[in-house]
Amino acid sequence: MSGSFIRERKRTDSCGQLRASDIGREVVLFGWVQNYRDHGGAVFVDLRDREGVTQVVFQPEVCESHALAGQLRHEWCIGVSGKVVSRGNNSNPRIATGEVEVRVEQLTVFNKSETPPFEISDKVTTAESKRLAYRYLDLRRRPLQQTLITRAKMNTLVRSVLTERNFLELETPFIGKYTPGGARNFLVPSRLNAGKFYALAESPQLYKQLFMVAGFERYFQIVKCFRDEDLRLDRQPEFTQIDLEMSFVCEDDIFEVIEAMLATLWKEVLGIDIPRPFLRMDYDEAMSTYGNDKPDLRFGMPHIELTKIIQQFGAEGGMPLMWEAVKTGGIVKAMVIEGKHALSRSDGEKLEAYVKSMGAQGLARAKLNEAGEWTQSPMAKNISAPLRQAINAACGAKAGDILAFQFGRAAQVHTVMANLRVFVAKQLGLIPEYGSGGVWKFLWVVNPPLFEFDEAEKRWVAAHHAFTRPVDEHVEWLESNPAQVKCHRYDVVLNGFEIGGGSIRVHNPELQARIFHALGIPEEEARQKFGFLLDALKFGAPPHGGIALGMDRLAMLLSNAESLRDVISFPKTQNGADLMSGAPTPVESSQLSELGIRLLPTSSP
Ligand code: AMO
Repeated sequence: MSGSFIRERKRTDSCGQLRASDIGREVVLFGWVQNYRDHGGAVFVDLRDREGVTQVVFQPEVCESHALAGQLRHEWCIGVSGKVVSRGNNSNPRIATGEVEVRVEQLTVFNKSETPPFEISDKVTTAESKRLAYRYLDLRRRPLQQTLITRAKMNTLVRSVLTERNFLELETPFIGKYTPGGARNFLVPSRLNAGKFYALAESPQLYKQLFMVAGFERYFQIVKCFRDEDLRLDRQPEFTQIDLEMSFVCEDDIFEVIEAMLATLWKEVLGIDIPRPFLRMDYDEAMSTYGNDKPDLRFGMPHIELTKIIQQFGAEGGMPLMWEAVKTGGIVKAMVIEGKHALSRSDGEKLEAYVKSMGAQGLARAKLNEAGEWTQSPMAKNISAPLRQAINAACGAKAGDILAFQFGRAAQVHTVMANLRVFVAKQLGLIPEYGSGGVWKFLWVVNPPLFEFDEAEKRWVAAHHAFTRPVDEHVEWLESNPAQVKCHRYDVVLNGFEIGGGSIRVHNPELQARIFHALGIPEEEARQKFGFLLDALKFGAPPHGGIALGMDRLAMLLSNAESLRDVISFPKTQNGADLMSGAPTPVESSQLSELGIRLLPTSSP
């Protein structure tokens, strides 16, 4: 019966399509029963498909299958044919099809549905774990349908922007050689080479550089990447990059392509014109003013570096803890919370509890009175008047404002103050808990250091990867002063999220050898790890550079979603589980033997 319905009738419209101008037409609709109401005789059903909802009505005198209509329940999958009629005074302005309904002549039930474990509606209170276990039902809900439809649109737009600019969509392997450094890889045992492993690609980095060596000049790929990292709201083990690489370019060329692509996405998805060119900020300024390299510029509250002032006043200043921190190589930073925000004492305590949860000792703070004196603060008695005045002036603080301080190891102070800044902004309602609040602040963070010091290993390591090109004038410091070497790396940031990052690469084998040397990586080890790339550089590699954007993060931001899980069709939970399929699962010992693997006893159940 239902087979012949499909063979004999073609769907004429989607459930989001019919308008008053369609009145009188004979139509065929397919979809799911969103709601049903039996008005003693006439049965009304809201029929839903991915495009929308249409009311269909079954009247005993018109519909051959009226009795069957009475049995319809939530989420049954049906097809109807009938005539579009006006709803007259009963029109529903809340839905696009609300002026009309379909008076059904024929009904077919393709499939009944068990009662769904949660209601398929826009807003649900059901726990996320339950929704993830029935993801295919969750995905029937309009907000999730919308985000995946947005993603599909993003894919099309990205392809068209890049294809127009002469980029080629080329593929790279997912299973390849394990290369250390960067994110932790997932390993894949090789059955054909027992005891050996592939790694799942954390990004197509090396291959896209090889495409440049091969002469393709402009490559892109919308590509899955795999990283065995600790997961957060903005991190998934399997995520998608819009990855590209270009030959014969400098930063400006890459920025132009990315800004054009993002402008197109924002225009086509949200109807918003984003101002270009994007702001550029030096990495050092981002760290100093905002404490991290992905500042949210939707609000102010910059950090103020007080290290020099504390140094100047020394012991005379009457701030022994800050002075001690500076003497031992640390830094001091402050942030002003303006009086107009009327932060109470208990709000201040909340902020202190928050910074302690990040491992800070506490949150030194003081409130200014009319005379510029500090109140509500144990520091008030001891600080010398000149130091107090110097700090007030440096911070631009006025009566009623609160000063919040952190001092100690630079990395810790930056992190605590960066998180505090965002926490305070959310508490004060300057930005929403999640979502853009309608404000989009794009930013390039440029010119970061090439190396960072690994405290655990007590040596310099590449801050990003070892193929990033140092600034020409700094090359001479590679060995003598590695801390000062800046490089051609850039991140694109939006509202506090790193949405992409890339660099101009080293294309010269001698320079590459010097960088490995500066990193203390012996030639042999470099060869063993990256030999194929190093060889390739010797064969006329062109100057090149590229970038990868986080597609999931872009989709999250464009959809005002709270987490990446809301924009990924089948996401993993915090501990990497797929609650629907049950992955990861144990496997048969025979499968392991085939791979030459024996499991160690583990403590997990
Ligand atoms: P990078 O490691 O900075 O660069 O990654 C690029 C962008 O990918 C997104 N991203 C993630 N999104 C979701 N879950 C994750 N676990 C995750 N990790 C990263 C971020 C990030 O900015 N090969 C280089 C690019 C290049 O140099 O051309 C790379 O992968 O938005």
